[in-house]
Amino acid sequence: MTTAIVYLNGEYVPADEARVSIWDRGFMFGDGVYEVIPAYGGRLFRLEQHLQRLDNSLFEIRLAPPLSHGQWGRCLEELIRRNGGGDLSVYLQVTRGQAVRNHGFPDGTPPTVVATCSPLPEVAPETLRDGVAAVTCEDIRWKYCHIKAITLLPNVLLRQQALDAGAAEAILVRDGTVTEGAASNIFVVKDGLVLTPPNGPYLLPGITRDLIIELAREAGLTCREASLPAASLAAADEIWLTSSTRELTPVTLLDGEPVGDGRPGPVWQRLYALFQAYKHTLRREAQGLLKTPR
Ligand code: PDD
Repeated sequence: MTTAIVYLNGEYVPADEARVSIWDRGFMFGDGVYEVIPAYGGRLFRLEQHLQRLDNSLFEIRLAPPLSHGQWGRCLEELIRRNGGGDLSVYLQVTRGQAVRNHGFPDGTPPTVVATCSPLPEVAPETLRDGVAAVTCEDIRWKYCHIKAITLLPNVLLRQQALDAGAAEAILVRDGTVTEGAASNIFVVKDGLVLTPPNGPYLLPGITRDLIIELAREAGLTCREASLPAASLAAADEIWLTSSTRELTPVTLLDGEPVGDGRPGPVWQRLYALFQAYKHTLRREAQGLLKTPR
């Protein structure tokens, strides 16, 4: 459940009083885009990168940015403050607004802008100890997966397919090549090399993914953006998933078979520790102990 106060079209209102029309194109067509931004100790994680990706998504669907980056920053910080701060998952959504149902774009309709936040739980200890199961699925989505569109029906069906199989995530394969998870990016470790599919139209350019690439390289690991044949998954020493809500999750069982030795691997352990240190820096910065991190 969301916390008490949400932002809706310029106002902060109690969540159960916030109303959006049934004619909203987000509701009718899934005509909108969104972001999920984690906040640690009330401090937004890589805000600028998330807002840049939002602008890219808006540009792709031909919707003008409703707020500047400065305005978004102030809006989300105020939302966090009104909801008591702490570790939060901040969700924001922009749709093409409310209009009589008609596929073509409406003229002069203001967009609907919503932001909410909810507690961001720590990744479960058993996930860190044992890893999670994943299944491979055909990537049935469209050809604009780099847009963070609210139209998530394929992702919903794929994630549910994974859950029904007792797994935590669906790893998607398009034309024999791994793209990403239903709501995460994927990394593979093979013989000490860290590999992740290159950005492009078939996957979301994950913000967590970018940080993991940076941290891996800073740690002296070789990390390459390379196309991953589906067959490379079975041969991987380690597989990880990254996302704003799942951080860096080790996959230890794929399609019922152990990944590597079936335990979270040593390279994951190293990167996970670096990721936690990065979060810690954000929290200390929120307490005013440090200057802005990267
Ligand atoms: N999803 N790929 C897809 C399809 C995603 O939906 C997500 C995140 C990611 C990871 O991106 P990032 O590291 O920027 O969170 C990759 C969010 C968390 C969601 O829809 O809830």
